Amino acid sequence: MESIRTLRIMQETSKRSLHQGKSIGFVPTMGAIHRGHLSLVKRAKGETDIVVVSIFVNPIQFGKNEDFDKYPRDLDGDIGKLREEGVDIILMPEAKTMYPQGFSTSILMGGLSERLCGAYRPGHFTGVATVVCKLFNIVKPARAYFGQKDFQQTVIIRRMAEDLNMDLELVVCPTIREGDGLAMSSRNAYLDTAERKAAAVIYKSLLSASEMMKGGAAGPEEAKRHLNEALKAEPLIAEIQYAGAYDPQTLEELSAFKKQNLLALAVKIGSTRLIDNVLVEKK
Ligand code: PAJ
Repeated sequence: MESIRTLRIMQETSKRSLHQGKSIGFVPTMGAIHRGHLSLVKRAKGETDIVVVSIFVNPIQFGKNEDFDKYPRDLDGDIGKLREEGVDIILMPEAKTMYPQGFSTSILMGGLSERLCGAYRPGHFTGVATVVCKLFNIVKPARAYFGQKDFQQTVIIRRMAEDLNMDLELVVCPTIREGDGLAMSSRNAYLDTAERKAAAVIYKSLLSASEMMKGGAAGPEEAKRHLNEALKAEPLIAEIQYAGAYDPQTLEELSAFKKQNLLALAVKIGSTRLIDNVLVEKK
């Protein structure tokens, strides 16, 4: 396994691989690698010749009062896990090489990036789209792998790739969960014991709203009410930022169910912000 810190070297390495007819699979991450990340790596291993994983805690996608400084970092642990998984290349750039003095381009997206999480994290998706665009240009993947856990992120990256004619395939992989259903996330490390236990309500409430939807004539309003009531029943939920039924393409709140529906939410447990979602088919 090769570790690369220099962007130019990564670009040259990718070019060489492409000339040899090898396809590149790319998994962008911010590190603190867990089984969710590793599921993307496994999928990439099975579908492409060379797997590149980037580890970069991207400063421009964090708001001023967010957790950039305390975001979990464990480079040695990450390298061990990725080596064990058979990753070919880890790209670990420094912020000053990604954003040198004078850097001034960003990918702005109206609409999609302002809904759901975007309403609570202004500028977040501009930061995400900009870094992912840069990473795509550096790594040159045939396929890039993202988790459904960050559903809005996948919608935004897909839009960007389509709008800017990026020649790659996006692969969205299922959310990997802990035994009690909590979606794996680097931010789960912020939860204390009581909060961690309480966090199980997130997936449980999504599942019960989804069962309710599948079971009968309930409309989006009812699903939303059900979801919010289930969340409010847990006293350690400090804030519900959004929880409801949305169109998986436009991310707009639904007034009537469609064939494919997104139940999604963002809550705070203590000061930790957690998100989750499920896709529900309606016959
Ligand atoms: P990060 O939160 O490290 O996540 C990296 C990738 O792993 C994302 O595609 C995310 O959706 C996926 N992932 C996280 N938890 C998962 C889980 N429980 N199951 C399946 N996949 C999971 O998302 C980012 O980093 C950044 O925004 C990034 C795209 C790297 C841009 O900076």
